Amino acid sequence: MLSINTCLSTDFVKYQNNIENKVVVIIDILRATTCMITAFMEGASHIRAFNDPDSCFQMRKDKYLVAGERDGEKLEGFDLGNSPFDYINLGVKDQKIAITTTNGTKALLASESAVKVVICSFLNISATCTDLIKENKDVLIFCAGWKGLVNTEDTLCAGMIISKIKDFGFELNDDASVLAFDFYKQNSSNILEVLKSSAHAKRLKKFVSPEKDIEYAAQLDVTSIIPIFEKDLILDQDFT
Ligand code: MLT
Repeated sequence: MLSINTCLSTDFVKYQNNIENKVVVIIDILRATTCMITAFMEGASHIRAFNDPDSCFQMRKDKYLVAGERDGEKLEGFDLGNSPFDYINLGVKDQKIAITTTNGTKALLASESAVKVVICSFLNISATCTDLIKENKDVLIFCAGWKGLVNTEDTLCAGMIISKIKDFGFELNDDASVLAFDFYKQNSSNILEVLKSSAHAKRLKKFVSPEKDIEYAAQLDVTSIIPIFEKDLILDQDFT
């Protein structure tokens, strides 16, 4: 049997082993992976992720659009914040994007030793699960969480992934996966409500009216695009 492990926040990644032989699924529903997937839906060329805003901003010199937030608020002077509507409204077709976010890019960059890194949200969850089954390798589901804390929206998405792949030769290999799966079973028909009542929805209220972002992020399977992270670039898997 193949194994599913779940990392419920960036702080738990240090306890994960054998990442180099696993497919890692990055989840940051509100809002980093939702935004990255949206960027490719809008025709972006590729994305580079950064841990710090200064390095990210420097990419302007190489004609990158620079995108980023800290604590949910758009970084000053950046072209894009971290709302999917920033990507939709500005128009990013054929653009190169440099991005840095509070948790999502941190999770991504912590996973670069994996055999494959896929970027998932509710927007592309079924396509991602089909790809995991096809890859036929052990899986680490990596929830970005919030500054080391667990959050409900990423955990819910992790549980949905588990529900979609567990009957295809995968077993739940840790209690974090059991918790995520149980949380999903209790809330499988309440996705939007879980996101609306999340701690991050409350944080976002300080800067934006998050309702639009939350409703958008709760949509299921609006695309089959699967962004993957390899050799420092995030690309649409179908164009690699
Ligand atoms: C994160 O990295 O935690 C999120 O992207 C934060 C946000 O976009 O509000």
